[in-house]
Amino acid sequence: MEDNNLEEELNKINREPYKGVRDFYPEDMFVQNFIFDVMRKTVISFGFIEYNASILEPTSLYKAKSGEELVGEQTYTFTDRGGRDVTLRPEMTPTVARMVAKRKRELIFPLRWFSIPNMFRYERPQKGRLREHWQLNADLFGIKSVDADVEIISLAYTLMKNFGAKDNNFEIKVNSRKIINSILKDFLKLQDEEGTRLMKLVDKREKIKQDEFNAELSIMLGDKSEVFSKMLKTKSLLDFTSVLPKEISNSEGIKDIQNLINKLNEIGIKNVVFSPDLVRGFDYYTGIVFEIYDKNPENNRSLFGGGRYDDLLDIFGEEKVPAVGFGMGDVTIKDFLNTYDLIPKYNSSVDLYICTLSNEYIPTANKIASELRSKNINVEVNLTDKKIPDQVKIASKKTASFIICIGENEVKTEKYKIKNMETGEEKETQLNEIHDFIK
Ligand code: HAM
Repeated sequence: MEDNNLEEELNKINREPYKGVRDFYPEDMFVQNFIFDVMRKTVISFGFIEYNASILEPTSLYKAKSGEELVGEQTYTFTDRGGRDVTLRPEMTPTVARMVAKRKRELIFPLRWFSIPNMFRYERPQKGRLREHWQLNADLFGIKSVDADVEIISLAYTLMKNFGAKDNNFEIKVNSRKIINSILKDFLKLQDEEGTRLMKLVDKREKIKQDEFNAELSIMLGDKSEVFSKMLKTKSLLDFTSVLPKEISNSEGIKDIQNLINKLNEIGIKNVVFSPDLVRGFDYYTGIVFEIYDKNPENNRSLFGGGRYDDLLDIFGEEKVPAVGFGMGDVTIKDFLNTYDLIPKYNSSVDLYICTLSNEYIPTANKIASELRSKNINVEVNLTDKKIPDQVKIASKKTASFIICIGENEVKTEKYKIKNMETGEEKETQLNEIHDFIK
């Protein structure tokens, strides 16, 4: 009776994962590993070194500067058994800033640090947005000059190229918090809170109707709304500055951006554009902000982004350390790679599958397998009592690259017919020749 109840109970448990997170079946894991491999190799080639941390953080870490939307609406927060407020990390930047602050006196700057953590945001799941994603974080601490901004954007650009993207597939949009702040304060004369509200409106500009946007804008800005709207629509730094009053068009922020674009152009990065409507949602950015955009009309969206945040160590009572970095999400880059057909064909890591005519040949097959494994060949030995054609089907489904079969004949002669599963090429080999045939 009790067993029946348990069975009924188990049948009721949903097989779907929790909303907005993913199961990774082997084929999905293959894609994920491909993405992480490209990320890892690229950042390491720029001298970045890896760190990591726990997914749990005290909630207070995010309250200071991650921005109201993220903290108030998107975090998974709970109270632990000791009454502490705990949050599943929604981003990595506060964590890496905390780690740098903790060892600031011992660390030798500049630091180039990277990590590929998973993170959770309570969002409405949709294309490119899930509740769990992985994010390559690459951050450079300790360099104030534009050279660090150039280096970080150049890393982002190289990542795209190493994934197989062409220059005309994507665009690097740049703006500066300094420009945004001088427009809010010096031109529009807004208080901090009003400025934040306006930036939120700009941030969601593409998600709402144009009329709705214009109406809200004119409530906020009155007769300045028209010129502000015009500014947002400009397509180059020159156009933009021509709309601005002199004191702002000569400001530090504008010079910084001009300098950044020039330096990127000098090193051959030409698909960079100034975008006055790029604001990014975090309160901690202080200088340049950037986003990589897919240019395909079907997927015309932001792929990833970042910026400069020179003041974040303030929140730990530490002296400031200049910092610039970005977060590149696995979901958006996977969509991009799918759009441009840049994901390699699935291939398991089995090099050789050894079929056995019956169970009595398993020990011989295992001996051969262990000899080859010691030479870095990945070998799977059949342990089933299926017929040979069925074993071959399994090997082929697994995308094993080569196959041999062991039976009475092979044991007697110590010769093995090895077959290349892709080309169909076959060769009779001795044990010591198998390695060379495979490699
Ligand atoms: P973010 O723009 O919030 O920046 O996220 C960076 C990237 O993570 C996004 O562009 C996207 O690729 C991915 N991403 C974010 N949220 C989701 C989601 N719900 N589903 C799927 N992918 C997502 C940051 O998090 C900053 N902390 C980045 C940074 C590092 N800035 C400086 N250093």
